[in-house]
Amino acid sequence: MKALTYHSAKDVRVETVPDPIIQEPEDIILRVTATAICGSDLHIYRGKIPGMKAGDVLGHEFMGVVEEVGPAVTCISPGERVVVPFTISCGDCFFCNARLFAACETTNPGRGAILNKKNVRSGAGMFGYSHLYGGYPGGQAEFVRVPKANTGPLTIPAGLADEQVLFLSDILPTGYQAVLNARVEEGSHIAIFGAGPVGLMAAACARMLGAERIFMVDHHAYRLEFARQTYDVIPINFDEIEDPAEFIVEQTDFRGVDASIDAVGFEAKGSALETVLTDLKLEGSSGKVLRQAIAATRRGGVISVPGVYAGFIHGFLFGDAFEKGLSFASGQTHTQQHMPQLLEHILRGELRPEVIVTHRLPLHEAARGYELFEQKLEDCRKVILTPELLPA
Ligand SMILES: NC(=O)c1ccc[n+]([C@@H]2O[C@H](COP(=O)([O-])OP(=O)(O)OC[C@H]3O[C@@H](n4cnc5c(N)ncnc54)[C@H](O)[C@@H]3O)[C@@H](O)[C@H]2O)c1
Ligand SMILES: [Zn+2]
Ligand SMILES: [Zn+2]
Repeated sequence: MKALTYHSAKDVRVETVPDPIIQEPEDIILRVTATAICGSDLHIYRGKIPGMKAGDVLGHEFMGVVEEVGPAVTCISPGERVVVPFTISCGDCFFCNARLFAACETTNPGRGAILNKKNVRSGAGMFGYSHLYGGYPGGQAEFVRVPKANTGPLTIPAGLADEQVLFLSDILPTGYQAVLNARVEEGSHIAIFGAGPVGLMAAACARMLGAERIFMVDHHAYRLEFARQTYDVIPINFDEIEDPAEFIVEQTDFRGVDASIDAVGFEAKGSALETVLTDLKLEGSSGKVLRQAIAATRRGGVISVPGVYAGFIHGFLFGDAFEKGLSFASGQTHTQQHMPQLLEHILRGELRPEVIVTHRLPLHEAARGYELFEQKLEDCRKVILTPELLPA
């Protein structure tokens, strides 16, 4: 089959790789009908995620039609159309029983990304996300093996197009969990840092839950303008407004917003010192957005962090957070927890995640898709890839 493989930073290729086969009783083989490129894939693409090997198949946002099921699969049958969550969760461990699916402690034979690990077991394995997360081949491919299929895939009713539901695999639940963690409710005032797909999904969910004012910070004018038109955000371009937190505080009666959402993560732009340190590999992450979020949030408020972090950050002002009595919530999304409810919202027309899509490419043009998304070319917001199967 054809699949998008990693070779080194900025070098990804569509190549022929072996077809996946059923390996465990709870596996299914999925014929992929649509797959997307995620901001998390860009961390890999830029060579920032250790534990990648040449030839690894990328992709963790995908859906398709079930081709084959293992003998222990009880919930789905061949021919069903499903969306697959990006974390692989057993459904039966301490954390899965607590519905903290991203923390599943049985599916990741890799070491995970905790530095001061002690003997803590790794969190859930993930599709196409390096050998730190289990080395599972991803779904930017014609076919993919989906382990633990009794816990992951969600069956999609007929009548919905792939792109209406594809983002249930990751960015929609991620935006939703970010606003739940931010305790967004009717009348909330919030700030969202990052107008990428995750920030946009957070804005959509915050609107649905009744947020009153949403500030959105980025420096890509086209992304901010889309968010203003679609979700009525107050755009803040940090190329023009040097200190977004100061602006937000001034606009909120010198208190700050109820909550800030960091939908950027460790590759945040803006600190020359941190860029140098990160390039020298002396530091894991840029703390630019976290510092801004702490400064922009009112006393007693929340910092919700869906953006990915790794290792150390410089200048984390924990004293300011303490003085303000801030709460923090972060982490990989417990996708399975939110998928059924979000599907209901899509069916009722309350969420239309597909509006963010700008590029639809055949799988064989995936490398160009990565370039467009990474370089923000052609006003790219989100790329969907479609495998084109040759007739058998
Ligand atoms: N927690 C999870 O389970 C989960 C799931 C999906 C994605 N993510 C993470 O969410 C983050 C965003 O993903 P995405 O798909 O939206 O990616 P993206 O790269 O398309 O978007 C990030 C946006 O942040 C902006 N940005 C950069 N520096 C900034 C700064 N200093 N202030 C404000 N904005 C800044 C960029 O211009 C860009 O528009 C990534 O870190 C990704 O890995 C986490
Ligand atoms: Zn993702
Ligand atoms: Zn589990």
